[in-house]
Amino acid sequence: MQDVVSIRLKQPGLKKVKYKPGQYLSVVVRINGRKYVRPYSLSSAPEVDSFLEITIKRVANGIVSNFLCDQVQLGDSIELIEPMGDFGLNNEPTDAPLIFWGGGSGITPLISIIKYELHKDPTHNIKLFYGNKSPKSTIFLSELNQLQAQFPSNFKVWYFYSQSIEDEISLPQRVKGRIEHERVIKSCEEHVTFKDALHFICGPQGIMDTVSQMLKKLGVDEKNIHLEAFKIQLDEKLLEGVEDQKVTFVQNDTEVIVDVPKGKNILDAGLDFGLDIDYACQQGSCLLCKAKLLNGDLKTIGAVAGVAELDEDERVLCCGYPLSENIKIKLP
Ligand code: FES
Repeated sequence: MQDVVSIRLKQPGLKKVKYKPGQYLSVVVRINGRKYVRPYSLSSAPEVDSFLEITIKRVANGIVSNFLCDQVQLGDSIELIEPMGDFGLNNEPTDAPLIFWGGGSGITPLISIIKYELHKDPTHNIKLFYGNKSPKSTIFLSELNQLQAQFPSNFKVWYFYSQSIEDEISLPQRVKGRIEHERVIKSCEEHVTFKDALHFICGPQGIMDTVSQMLKKLGVDEKNIHLEAFKIQLDEKLLEGVEDQKVTFVQNDTEVIVDVPKGKNILDAGLDFGLDIDYACQQGSCLLCKAKLLNGDLKTIGAVAGVAELDEDERVLCCGYPLSENIKIKLP
């Protein structure tokens, strides 16, 4: 049983799917009558790879990741929502050194940007600090080593291993332990200019927090620190005021009442009930799940982008949690 699967998708013959390095595709699957949409970063790079590639890490009890890892066969068609997201350089050329920080499957958008930038400028100064449990669990290990061999003077990877560095795979820059301040500084035997570089971080929340705090301490301007987070981390503080509630959805002049337990967002509650709601990013940026709030109050948690474009009575359901009784929502 494989825990990480890359799926390569053939570009359509006529109208190619256009995307920027660092963007994600949303995969739509229907399992037992319920529509699921999951965003997966593209690990392929435009102008470099002729195909689209997404890499899926199996999540324990993850309905979609298990389905994609186990069920998708060569030759299958997959329903997709067009690429979205603004992580990366957004095609803005820069001479600044680029430093990437990845943890586990967080490497997927990073390798897309790295491949693209090395293709555009084969002399661009690029570094990658990449944390995993062990060499064996390192996604894109051979691809990264090939890139290092191809660009020996300007592309370098440091591999950080929290559990084992003893696997038989030989790696030039192995560091025992997680990515953290002292270890990073000690591992750079050459001078790495953190302060003037653009930084891109993607991985579990722990790595994102550790690295962004470390970079701020090193004097990196906040505007040069870019984070890609797919999952909103809920905690009691964020959920303050949120309670179990019944929410009324209005769709096509029909009303249904749905239980929304504390901690579940309105989108998931509606989808689990069987409502047909458009969605993709699940982080408040694509606005596909927007709906009108007719009554009651919702708490918006984690919405970072896009929310400013909503009308006063609109909410993104993927970031919405019940704050009051008698909530009524009109779906488009
Ligand atoms: S799914 Fe994208 S904003 Fe809710």
